[in-house]
Amino acid sequence: MSHQPEENGLSLRPSTLKEYIGQKNIVRNLSLAIEAAKKRNEALEHCLLYGPPGLGKTTLANIVAKEMNANIITTTGPAIEKVGDIAAILTNLNEKDVLFIDEIHRLNRAVEETLYSALEDFKLDIVVGQGPGARTIRIDLPPFTLVGATTRIGLLTSPLRDRFGLVLRLDFYSIEELKMIIQRSASILNIEIEEEAALLLAKRSRGTPRIANKLLRRVRDLAQINSKEIIDVETAKQTLEMLEIDKNGLDYLDKKYILTLIEKFSGGPVGIDTLAASIGEDRGTLEDVVEPFLLQIGYIKRTPRGRVATSIALKELKFKETLI
Ligand SMILES: Nc1ncnc2c1ncn2[C@@H]1O[C@H](COP(=O)(O)OP(=O)(O)O)[C@@H](O)[C@H]1O
Ligand SMILES: [Mg+2]
Repeated sequence: MSHQPEENGLSLRPSTLKEYIGQKNIVRNLSLAIEAAKKRNEALEHCLLYGPPGLGKTTLANIVAKEMNANIITTTGPAIEKVGDIAAILTNLNEKDVLFIDEIHRLNRAVEETLYSALEDFKLDIVVGQGPGARTIRIDLPPFTLVGATTRIGLLTSPLRDRFGLVLRLDFYSIEELKMIIQRSASILNIEIEEEAALLLAKRSRGTPRIANKLLRRVRDLAQINSKEIIDVETAKQTLEMLEIDKNGLDYLDKKYILTLIEKFSGGPVGIDTLAASIGEDRGTLEDVVEPFLLQIGYIKRTPRGRVATSIALKELKFKETLI
């Protein structure tokens, strides 16, 4: 069960769809589905949220429960070890409760198979006893909503994926949206920040609200040490320099990826497995965390022959002259 660090009891997580900034398409789809479910007085359809870390999946799961006036029970794929664990969770649900399973791609096979009938028919089939005396008993479950979250949609089996009525992909946020998130967080934390400074932080947040909030806390620290009442561009710049965040907000692993691609493989094309081995990082992490952002900012391309660094990356990183 995970909790967002809170300050002075204030959470930076928006708690309603109205407060939720960005992801317009998801907000529209969810609002519609929630309104319709409420009108029919039914549980909301099962929802699957996927996308890179820090974009707001956990936040949305909590919002869904709140908007449905329902309780939320939070767990993660790896925490549910046995069929008995999922059976205990399911049989304790009340009508319209939201069961949030984070990292749902990490459910084990037996647990996942138990979920199928629970999701489709709200029935739980469990085997009692062993050997020839074993029999299956069927338990009725209250209609509930499963909200699943994952960074790795590709690892979900299709029978599981197909049981979600709503499959929603989170995208990176625009700079304007991130600026609004920073300003909103600043006002919750009671920090004054100049608009230009908020914009600068937004540009360096790698499209990710979690990073935007983290940067805001770091600039606040520096402003406090420098006895500045208002966070200005100067303080924001200093903080970013200290944190070695480049002008696109690329982090250490992003930089390592792109530098390896350019320097060791002459910009590609190179297969993802070769690249992963060379960087010394898990292929899945590169595919789900690093590549989506590099694709988004146009630094790399995926081709049938492998990954390629684009001319944008070469120009931005001033590697043109070191290559032929
Ligand atoms: N749309 C949003 N508007 C404002 N803040 C957001 C939004 N989405 C995410 N956040 C902030 O970013 C942080 C990370 O979001 P979270 O839901 O934990 O991401 P994920 O579960 O996808 O990793 C949250 O604490 C929240 O404060
Ligand atoms: Mg999360």
